[in-house]
Amino acid sequence: MANEPIQQSQSDAWKAALASRRTQVADSESVPAALVTPLDQDVSRRSFIRASFWAGLGVSLLGSVGLLVDYLYPRNVRGFGGPVPAGTLADYPVGAEPVANSEGQFWMVNLDPTDTSDAGSGGGSGLLALWRKCPHLGCTVPWKHNATVPGFDSGSWFQCPCHGSSYTVAGVRVYGPAARSMDTMAIEIDDAGNITVQTGQILPGGPDNPSRATPV
Ligand code: FES
Repeated sequence: MANEPIQQSQSDAWKAALASRRTQVADSESVPAALVTPLDQDVSRRSFIRASFWAGLGVSLLGSVGLLVDYLYPRNVRGFGGPVPAGTLADYPVGAEPVANSEGQFWMVNLDPTDTSDAGSGGGSGLLALWRKCPHLGCTVPWKHNATVPGFDSGSWFQCPCHGSSYTVAGVRVYGPAARSMDTMAIEIDDAGNITVQTGQILPGGPDNPSRATPV
């Protein structure tokens, strides 16, 4: 019976502890929702930051690629490889000597169909643009006076200084190691007589070079 007060006090202590716990739970439930950071909210914030990072990186990469493409995109090609102005018809009298065009790397000649000499037009009539690059190994071919070509009279010929390949005024090969005649380029003439050579449109030379001349 002496233990009864002790048991009573222990029971009171438990009741007090339980009451206190209930009070704490009730207090925590009364904390405003805005001050609570639930786990799912934390996760969604991290996902948002990660998505923002990758989106930013993607936009930066796309911008860099766009700038590179814009830089490399060929536009308004000028000089060799594109259209090259070549003066007017008045610059090329029929039967006159070929005229060099450095920008376009070609010779322009107005073939005289009545020139029947060995180095002559081969019956061709009109403008012919001949690439100055020798079809053999690529040396620049000059128009040469008093040139000696085995098997022909000396005179004016296209003659390569590297290995002697020789060509008529129409670029037809007559001698030397070159495997073909001089290459030809496409010619355009507008209504006003202005001439443009399409130096990106090159045809391998052949014995038919004279027939490729553009009538004027
Ligand atoms: S490069 Fe012209 S003949 Fe050889």
